[in-house]
Amino acid sequence: MKHIISIKDFSKDEILNVLNIAAEFESNKHEDLLKNKILSTLFYEPSTRTRLSFESAMKQLGGNVVGFADPKASSVSKGESLSDTIRIVEGYADIIVIRHFVEGAARLAAEVSSKPVINAGDGSNQHPTQTFLDLYTILKCKGTLEDINIGFVGDLKYGRTVHSLVHALSLFKANMFFISPESLGMPPNQLEELDELGTSYQVSEKLSSFLKDLDILYVTRIQKERFPEAMDYNRVKDIYKIDRSILNSSKPELRIMHPLPRVGEIDPELDNSEQAIYFDQAKNGVVVRKALLSLLLGAV
Ligand code: CP
Repeated sequence: MKHIISIKDFSKDEILNVLNIAAEFESNKHEDLLKNKILSTLFYEPSTRTRLSFESAMKQLGGNVVGFADPKASSVSKGESLSDTIRIVEGYADIIVIRHFVEGAARLAAEVSSKPVINAGDGSNQHPTQTFLDLYTILKCKGTLEDINIGFVGDLKYGRTVHSLVHALSLFKANMFFISPESLGMPPNQLEELDELGTSYQVSEKLSSFLKDLDILYVTRIQKERFPEAMDYNRVKDIYKIDRSILNSSKPELRIMHPLPRVGEIDPELDNSEQAIYFDQAKNGVVVRKALLSLLLGAV
């Protein structure tokens, strides 16, 4: 595999192989594995977890990082095209991580790049490296990826982390429960894909409809920045609030995940509960991204 653009490019065995390698990085540091290699991080959209965990992963493996976190401070602000930026950066780095607001931007970058490209999120489309860390987190806490009951709540229309993760989990026969206001439901093409894969799913606006069945509740932020009209955002922004009350009607084994950042959809009173695993989830980004960088650079 030369690039990581979509989770749909991975088979079940390939996904499991990445997770095994990530587990190896959790046990052993491999400090010089990527010595003298350079990662370029091109972030056309804001990020904390994805960019910093890639940087941390690269530096912990002995490599270096160049890049930008704000395109306004790069020649993008002078009108340089994405293709030209990639053609320049491939001369400075061994591997490129890109986050862009346009769906398909990472694939375009891969088409013009002679160096491996990793998609760190393209619009509402895909966020494959988040999916790997989500799967790693589920595997660590549940001991399996097979047949889990998972509820997705919040912004399922624009949520790229959800769009990536549902595809991967469908390979592991997950039962899915989609909870959102009608205006933020899963896109029809995503549901058609799940139908083609034979995935079992149910849809509701109410979290209480499914809570007692869930092994994992995957909470997402209602993403203000994706709404064309502020009025539409204001109508739904506070629609779900996950707090201690949900623990009264869920299984004790329920675990709560969130790709983060959160802006009020999970009450911080849950943070220290056994159910909350979203901070561990974010931390797992480092070992998973170590595995992905090492694989694409041919070091493992
Ligand atoms: N989960 C995630 O993509 O977070 P950032 O936007 O902070 O990278």
